[in-house]
Amino acid sequence: MPVLRDLFIALSENEMLNDASKKVGLKFGTNKVVGGITIEETIERFKDINSQGMSVTFDNLGEFITEKSDAVKEKNNILNMIQAIDDHGVDASASIKLTQIGLHIDYDFCVENVREILDTARNVNMFVNIDMENYSSHDTTVQIVDMMMKEYDNVGTVLQSYLYNSAENVYKYKDHRTRLVKGAYKENPRVALQKKDDIDAAYEQLIRIHLTEGDGFTSIATHDHIIINDMIDFINEQNIPNDKFEFQMLYGFRKELQTELVERGYNVCVYIPFGNQWYAYFMRRLAERPQNINLVLKSITKD
Ligand code: FDA
Repeated sequence: MPVLRDLFIALSENEMLNDASKKVGLKFGTNKVVGGITIEETIERFKDINSQGMSVTFDNLGEFITEKSDAVKEKNNILNMIQAIDDHGVDASASIKLTQIGLHIDYDFCVENVREILDTARNVNMFVNIDMENYSSHDTTVQIVDMMMKEYDNVGTVLQSYLYNSAENVYKYKDHRTRLVKGAYKENPRVALQKKDDIDAAYEQLIRIHLTEGDGFTSIATHDHIIINDMIDFINEQNIPNDKFEFQMLYGFRKELQTELVERGYNVCVYIPFGNQWYAYFMRRLAERPQNINLVLKSITKD
């Protein structure tokens, strides 16, 4: 349903609706896919997930940050979450978005913020993933990732299979902990594959390369059971040990599949967004799978 996908992506980028959503709390069933507004309530979700045998990576929600003061606020929120995770002894890592901490405001300011987050995380032995956003941020994100990888050993990033350049970058990051995804944004055919079958085939190929070519830990981040089953077959054929990879899924999506994978002995990590800026995140989930609208309908009929 490409029309619906484009509509939800356009809605996710609407600044007015993003601003409005910050004021109303978790609405339309988003509490099923967002861990909480505050750090305290989100830590309780992390504990629930840990008690089900899964680790967590957190995402401080928020995009469209254009003021330095807002970027500092978001960075502090991330630092406070890292501290709270350490205080509570929960099994969680961080996922950060560079546009939230100044990428589009001032390059050096952004780099300084990333270093502060990586230093704080390193002090508590925590891994930080630098998420990959849309293509307009891609080159500067990669530049910062590469610089940080020379300075820190607790940092990794994401490869999006729809981007042509991931076929090269997978070799660059083969010895680093890397999350592999299909890609969530609408990108130009000059830079990205457009057909689902091509994106899926490129995705499986990237995973195979990352699992076998280097020493890096591979995070297979998908809800696609067909790809997960293909990859489990490949992992078994190649005798890849379970401590070299994990499956990652978003909080609230395909919970039964998450549990099944844990029961089969695989590492599963749940990506849990938190904070009041849930709107763009939720719209992108609807763009990926319009059936997720069920979450909205269920919440409306319940209330
Ligand atoms: P896709 O949406 O292609 O679905 C394939 C099939 O899986 C469906 O046809 C259906 O059969 C099944 N399926 C999928 N969702 C289902 C559901 N909810 N219920 C039942 N069946 C379902 N993107 C990005 O650009 N940068 C990033 O940094 C990240 N980070 C990230 C972290 C994590 C942990 C995840 C899981 C994903 C991301 N993504 C991302 C998003 C990613 O790029 C992609 O857009 C989504 O994961 C959707 O693609 P899938 O591979 O999950 O399956």
